Amino acid sequence: MSSEKRTSVPNSLNEHWMPFTSNKDFKANPRLITEAKGVYLKNHHGKTQIDGSSGLFCNPLGHGRREITEAVTKQLETLDYAQPFQQGFGGSFELATRISKHTPGDLNKIFYTICGSTAVETAIKIAIAYHRAKGDSKRFRFVGRERAYHGMNIGATSVGGMINNVKTFASVLMPGVLHMRHTHLPEHKFVSGQPETGAEIANDLERICENFGGENIAACIVEPVAGSTGCLVPPKGYLEKLREICDKHGILLIFDEVICGWGRMGSVFASQEFGVVPDMMTMAKATTNGVVPMGVVACKDEMYDAVMDASPMGAVELFHGYTYSGIPVSVAAALAVQDIFEKEDIFNRVKELVPYFQKSIFSLKDLEPVANIRGQGLMAGIDMKLNTKPGKAGFETFKSCYEAGVNFKATGDCLIIAPQFICEKKHIDEIVDKVRTGIQNYQKNQKN
Ligand SMILES: Cc1ncc(COP(=O)(O)O)c(C=O)c1O
Repeated sequence: MSSEKRTSVPNSLNEHWMPFTSNKDFKANPRLITEAKGVYLKNHHGKTQIDGSSGLFCNPLGHGRREITEAVTKQLETLDYAQPFQQGFGGSFELATRISKHTPGDLNKIFYTICGSTAVETAIKIAIAYHRAKGDSKRFRFVGRERAYHGMNIGATSVGGMINNVKTFASVLMPGVLHMRHTHLPEHKFVSGQPETGAEIANDLERICENFGGENIAACIVEPVAGSTGCLVPPKGYLEKLREICDKHGILLIFDEVICGWGRMGSVFASQEFGVVPDMMTMAKATTNGVVPMGVVACKDEMYDAVMDASPMGAVELFHGYTYSGIPVSVAAALAVQDIFEKEDIFNRVKELVPYFQKSIFSLKDLEPVANIRGQGLMAGIDMKLNTKPGKAGFETFKSCYEAGVNFKATGDCLIIAPQFICEKKHIDEIVDKVRTGIQNYQKNQKN
């Protein structure tokens, strides 16, 4: 196949084993995306679709951003790669300074990884390294939460809590990981924003401390708003309580902001939106507008200092890093993204758009197959009623919406809608109208 045709229709679908995909179903009736510009995608039937989930929550500034393309091209022409161990290049330091201007509290130290999963695994390792540096080697346990998604390497899978992601791999997961309950309660029906009830679920952490010894726990990791499982918004007071319990037992609190970070929740980070400062934060996705991979861990100055102080001058202080940690091409994209955030006042734009989006998405409440809707910032989860077996309604509706011209991510029976930050109100209307059509067509097909 010639290089121009590479994103179009391939000769064979057989060899590519697709990630998180029903390969057999896909190969019987493929969905190929051929072009992307602004808020729109085009598929291999030449049909235009609106992007309803910013790719995988990673392209909030729109597709085909000229500024990012130019920055990446220029970087590739000047310095395409510099190996990142025991040497560096200017861009990664500049980016770290710019990221740290946005991070809450004194989370000013920036470690680069490849993606969200490697950011989570790095945070796990930094937690252990920090405690050891302070002479506290007995903390080996990690606490995650049911229905959490933190990525797919062993560390991130272990602290995650989505059953289909863990059950096949139970034999190779990290030992010593415990899970709190998720925060979704049956009474949380059609709630936009933080539910009033459920803060006490944070006491699960206290209970784990009582049962396993808080002094053995290195860190507790949560997504401030659980994204991939279907937008579970923390009850009012819940994150504050987690912070209190962590402080009481010397446990590090990690916020996984891979989806929430860089504006999705309204503030730059969910930490600021909910007024709770963690000890570490992970980011990825929107950091580069999704066009090249990059993960980031931000940690407190004090944690960095402790690890530095534990080693003599000339020694490598943290035996951890990746071939692609903060490489020039990712940094160039991320710096261009930072420029766009500033130039287009993106975070204020999101804040202005949030009430309109939340009101619009909850208008789908009247549809008979819809069981529940939740939302925070520019993200919402629409639960479909069960159809014979878990996941069927979600997948069928996803395909029906795809045909109706709206593209998004569905997990199980939940449709996750997360518009791009550059959306105008008319685009929100288009997303919601097309989701409505897709759900109605799904309903009709069930009856036939
Ligand atoms: C909260 C969260 N953490 C981590 C990850 C893993 O990111 P990646 O797929 O880039 O490894 C994801 C991916 O969706 C995520 O939503």
